[in-house]
Amino acid sequence: MTKLPRLSRAALQNPWKQNPWFESVAVAQARAKKRLPAPVYAALVAGSERGQTIDDNERAFTDIGFAPHVVGQHASRTLSTTVMGQSLSLPVMISPTGVQAVHPDGEVAVARAAAARGTVMGLSNFASRSVEDVVATGAPTLFQMYWTGNRDVMVQRMERARAAGAVGLIATLDWSFSMGRDWGSPEIPERVDLRTMLRFAPKVISRPRWLRDFAMAGGLPDLTAPNLAAPGGDAPTFFEAYYEWMTTPPPTWSDVEWMREQWGGPFMLKGVCRVDDALRAVDAGATAISVSNHGGNNLDGTPAAVRMVKPIADAVGDQIDVVMDGGVRRGSDVVKAVALGAKAVMIGRAYLWGLAANGQAGVENVLDVLQGGIDSALRGLGVGSVQELGLEHLLVPESFHRALGVSDSMAPAGGAGVPSTRP
Ligand SMILES: Cc1cc2nc3c(=O)[nH]c(=O)nc-3n(C[C@H](O)[C@H](O)[C@H](O)COP(=O)(O)O)c2cc1C
Repeated sequence: MTKLPRLSRAALQNPWKQNPWFESVAVAQARAKKRLPAPVYAALVAGSERGQTIDDNERAFTDIGFAPHVVGQHASRTLSTTVMGQSLSLPVMISPTGVQAVHPDGEVAVARAAAARGTVMGLSNFASRSVEDVVATGAPTLFQMYWTGNRDVMVQRMERARAAGAVGLIATLDWSFSMGRDWGSPEIPERVDLRTMLRFAPKVISRPRWLRDFAMAGGLPDLTAPNLAAPGGDAPTFFEAYYEWMTTPPPTWSDVEWMREQWGGPFMLKGVCRVDDALRAVDAGATAISVSNHGGNNLDGTPAAVRMVKPIADAVGDQIDVVMDGGVRRGSDVVKAVALGAKAVMIGRAYLWGLAANGQAGVENVLDVLQGGIDSALRGLGVGSVQELGLEHLLVPESFHRALGVSDSMAPAGGAGVPSTRP
């Protein structure tokens, strides 16, 4: 961390008093927007190209409706489930996000919140906090890796995560290095030195609470990736790490198998969009897949993740754990995804907005908002547990699903297209 003068302990305030409970993820996002320097907020919004996929991720949930009962609901509902051998108190997991500079406690705060609410932490290999610090929170941690570096380096990173106590590996392989978005990308500095601080000062000075939080923690974010450090070496900068990734030849299916074997424990392939790829993931020995388009940050034009859930869950849901991520912002979204065949969802931006709004308490708040929304939907639907959810509880337009990677005769109406609303 770049050192800043420490503020007095007396300046510490109760975060709940200063920034109390929020009732929805949308409110958390509005607070995050006010609180974060504009480039940091823009880096979280992200998305690629014209934003077709990022828009569809959220909008697709609004195409699905519910058919609630009026009488006969269950007095208590069960939200717990199991994914990759881990017990979850609700079907929501923390998706790995490689973001720096949101909050000084970063992934440690997120992991503490995950542990407090009985769920699993996905830790990005681009994270700002070490796997050792994150596992020490007590949250069951799934360490996420991209296909980056040579095999020796990858094995060394896996061994470090295993030694730290990570309980599973997430291999995220859906990245095509798409550059450019129509609403512009924020500048990410290579290093936070005095020159950078002066250049970014106007953007940061208008966000005093963000600055205060970092100042009280002892400095500004250093934008390095500690989990990608060589043994005994310094953590690479974000751009050094990105360069290694960009210059690593893409993996084959036998590389996936190799990675799974090297890890030797629960293994998730994240970023699956097609039924044929899901079948290959089963063949490669994966324990789980996440149906995902990287939160709309990968290949623009990929359908919303929730549109791809049912065809994939129908094909492989009885063989491996199928989860999904992308666009989940409320408990009813979780219920829709689970009713379509996912065992659980992973959230990305939702917890990042909570983290930005109120640190660990904000992430707990987001998980509570989702928990409350799931419970309320189960009650309305007259369902006693998330395991009982099925298509009969939803109103789904015929053209909703997107079955990619199946022969035409198997594909439902609607084909592989993505509806668009952005101009
Ligand atoms: C700012 C940002 C950074 C991300 N970094 C990573 C990452 O390092 N590794 C990874 O597997 N996925 C990463 N993702 C994707 C998330 O894990 C997840 O797939 C996505 O955020 C889900 O969509 P949602 O944000 O709409 O919930 C990132 C997403 C965002 C928004």
